[in-house]
Amino acid sequence: MTELTIHRTSSAVGAEIHGVNLANLSDAEFNTIQQTFFDNGVIFFRDQTLSPEDHIAFAQRWGEINVNRFFTPVDGHPQIAQVLKEPDQDMNIGGDWHTDHSYDLDPAMGSILYAHDVPDSGGDTLFASMGAAFEALSPDFQTMLEGLTARHSSRHVFGNAGRAAVANGERIGNAELATQDAEHPVVIRHPDSGRKCLYVNPGFTLNIVGWNPDESDNLLSFLYKHAAHPRFATRFNWEVGSLAMWDNRATWHNAINDYQGQRRYMHRITVAGVPLASARTA
Ligand code: SIN
Repeated sequence: MTELTIHRTSSAVGAEIHGVNLANLSDAEFNTIQQTFFDNGVIFFRDQTLSPEDHIAFAQRWGEINVNRFFTPVDGHPQIAQVLKEPDQDMNIGGDWHTDHSYDLDPAMGSILYAHDVPDSGGDTLFASMGAAFEALSPDFQTMLEGLTARHSSRHVFGNAGRAAVANGERIGNAELATQDAEHPVVIRHPDSGRKCLYVNPGFTLNIVGWNPDESDNLLSFLYKHAAHPRFATRFNWEVGSLAMWDNRATWHNAINDYQGQRRYMHRITVAGVPLASARTA
């Protein structure tokens, strides 16, 4: 029997877990995986053979599935979203720093992405730790951020006039459902680890509530530049059968669009989350 081993992929974020079969996990293995996930923000697995039912069963061990209302689902499996780029398509899905579902009132806790087809080269995904990014700021600046709230939206991305809706054609749908805005603390208390994490992202955050547009844009630009620094990040190179699960409350991710003319096809399930509390909550 192979032993479960854990290899951290950078000091800030990410751990690769070997020696497990996600289609047949013991409770002890699942408990170790869960702790590794909360400790590292994103976990990676290789060489998994998962049917859609196996993928769904693994996701359900973490909580209820949040069915994404914009992505085209896998035939017969509405819980699984397709993350697809065909050789003749220019734009990919998720090709800038973001965290999934921050536009929801109860943002998704995690996303589980499983690789079916990968390009010969390119198509990696970057992940960044929003706990490490926050901790690297000076104490007075942290205190100021902890008192702020930001507004998030799906309208500019998945709505009728949205970038993704236009460029992604039939890969993205239900633009009429992109009405949801949500306000969350700029610094949250992570619901599971208790760590303070920066919770604004370039993909879905609109503005700092109560600040004028210049103030808000300048603060957000600073935070985005700071948090995207490579010292808070790790990079994952996909193979067929790789699976990554990331914590949407603790990380950002960015799917690099550097494989023009090649196909990349993944299945994604998002796991439901809870309302996010301010870092000032005990
Ligand atoms: C996503 O943003 O959910 C997709 C990430 C990826 O395709 O690597």
